[in-house]
Amino acid sequence: MTRVLKVNPKAIVFNESSGLPQISDPQTEQALNEAAKVLKTTNDPVAFPTETVYGLGASALNTDAVLNIYKAKNRPADNPLILHVSSRSQLERILKVKIPPIYLPLLDKFWPGPLTILLPVPTNTNISSACTVGQSTFAVRLPSNPVARALIAISDLPLAAPSANRSTRPSPTQAQHVYHDLEGKISIILDGGASDVGVESTVVDGLSNPPVLLRPGGVSFEDIIAAGKEPWKNLVVAKANTGKNEIARAPGMKYKHYSPTAPVLLFENYTNNEQDIKSIVKIVKDVAENTHIKEGTTPTIGILRTRRIGTQLATALKSVHEFTVIDKCIGSSGAEISHNLFASFRDMDIAQADLILIEGISETEEGLAVMNRVSKAASHTFNKNLI
Ligand code: TXA
Ligand code: MG
Repeated sequence: MTRVLKVNPKAIVFNESSGLPQISDPQTEQALNEAAKVLKTTNDPVAFPTETVYGLGASALNTDAVLNIYKAKNRPADNPLILHVSSRSQLERILKVKIPPIYLPLLDKFWPGPLTILLPVPTNTNISSACTVGQSTFAVRLPSNPVARALIAISDLPLAAPSANRSTRPSPTQAQHVYHDLEGKISIILDGGASDVGVESTVVDGLSNPPVLLRPGGVSFEDIIAAGKEPWKNLVVAKANTGKNEIARAPGMKYKHYSPTAPVLLFENYTNNEQDIKSIVKIVKDVAENTHIKEGTTPTIGILRTRRIGTQLATALKSVHEFTVIDKCIGSSGAEISHNLFASFRDMDIAQADLILIEGISETEEGLAVMNRVSKAASHTFNKNLI
């Protein structure tokens, strides 16, 4: 049985000198203690909120528990996991690593927060090989969500935690998303409300020269260049795909990811003018005709629009009489769009959309992380500038 335990992030305050949280709400304290006990005394993973997305965590020092994460998610076991710590001193004390100086300006600025760094795996390490899967580096971050941080501090365990979705599904940004995907497979979900950021952490490799941005996420490329000293000014973005037999250098490079059930059509550089709306309607008609949609039903088209496309697209699609349309604006700022993206994909599944149309945004600031997820979810991309 899967239990959802409510916790209140606002009732948790960190004492930076002791590294331990003070918790003013008894229900929150009890839930955290119970979850920490499960992590310390069993091999069951626990789901918990972070500022990026919900994670499914287990002690990074316990191989059986880590293997149960892969099992619950149905995740390929050659995809390494991110470790989560509650302080830099916990990282150094338990995992016996020294943080290379190149990272310090970034950690000063972005920890706690949505930045993951790669560190060399120490010789004779206590980190389970189920986390590192043969890599000579491991990934680690210090989350800012008070619930995540308190759980790690109370259990005093570095937690290996991928996103708490079933493999290939969009990452969960609410407890109910985790429940939907993993009900019956895990025993506890801590429900601390919606994740702020909504996309996963940024993963950087500062051990190679020049440093590499392996996965765009909650901290932007521009922010890293601005905060990092000299070597970070040469930051390069990893290429988006690896072959089947290569070891994935970055998350999601090798596997299908973030997909709702319905095919996603990505529209780039389209605007709200009549001509553009007409072209989109024509494309949607063509795709709908060639997509297997249950006979006798009217196709449902979900629209996730952002900055340029308005309600006119829904009106135009509805005038094609066989379409039912669900129209949603997922935000105009990068922060809003990131926050809403995965939840909107899931909402479209619940509404049983047959096709999902999404409006692309420019790949600057939060847009790089958003478009990285959107392109992976998309089965077709239509770029007006390339037609
Ligand atoms: O925001 C996040 O990072 C969330 C929350 C729960 O903290 N976690 C997350 O984990 O997104 P996951 O497992 O879905 O993504 C981790 C990715 C893996 O796909 C893997 O490719 C990459 O991090 N990774 C882990 N260790 C690595 C390593 N040593 N070298 C390169 N990439 C690594
Ligand atoms: Mg994931």
